[in-house]
Amino acid sequence: MSKKITTKDLIEMKKKGEKITMLTAYDCLMASQLDECGIDLILVGDSVANVLLGYKNTIPVSMDEMIHHCKAVCRGVERAMVIGDMPFMSYQASITGAVRNAGRFLKEAGVEAVKLEGGKEIILTIKKIVDSGIPVMGHLGFTPQSVYKFGGYGVRGKDENQALKMIEDAGMLEEAGVFSIVLEKIPAELAKKITRKISVPTIGIGAGINCDGQVLVTHDMLGCFEEFKPKFSKRYAELGTEMKKCYTKYIEEVKNKKFPSEEHSY
Ligand code: KIV
Repeated sequence: MSKKITTKDLIEMKKKGEKITMLTAYDCLMASQLDECGIDLILVGDSVANVLLGYKNTIPVSMDEMIHHCKAVCRGVERAMVIGDMPFMSYQASITGAVRNAGRFLKEAGVEAVKLEGGKEIILTIKKIVDSGIPVMGHLGFTPQSVYKFGGYGVRGKDENQALKMIEDAGMLEEAGVFSIVLEKIPAELAKKITRKISVPTIGIGAGINCDGQVLVTHDMLGCFEEFKPKFSKRYAELGTEMKKCYTKYIEEVKNKKFPSEEHSY
């Protein structure tokens, strides 16, 4: 078994300038494939809500649903660090509730860290979770749980006030003890500034080349969705089209009595 990636390794990687790789997974099969290929971090994102569970955004996914998917992912992983994404309203209402829920991710699901969206507003919560011995990854920029507050999916940090607040938030997160910060959908120059300013690694998604690492939603980079093509996500395959070709072929072969043939019969 290869050595587990730890928060210390990530800080070392930043110091050495070695890029950190992160992808999402929600099930054991995909997680084990990512682990085998050498991914550093696996995020069980609350994006499971829209990617797998059919919700229109990440708001509805529950703690129990997240724990269920985290357990499946952890069963498939030996080396990568697994991070559980705390769902909407599992950490915003009270600090005690947040610590309890963060603890469930480690105790019940077996992940090694949790991720929370936000800056200054949740800094005391983050401190308390970190003080409880739970590694925390921050998340700034476009934070999908605030989609209704933002009024859409636009790039964050384009105006000066937003940019200054984000730089300040990043500093506060670092001080609160996060081991890393996701920067989502912000100008590349702002991501570069934040990355240079803080000592913990930044992991970018739609935040340019200068972050310490990169993350994508795996189903997006595999091209599973034929219509959804965000600018920041590179399509490494067209699996959606390929999968549909397979289903169509199977249906046709069963209807036409071509499957099963002798080869597949006893
Ligand atoms: O839920 C998720 O997949 C995420 C990533 C996009 C960073 O938060």
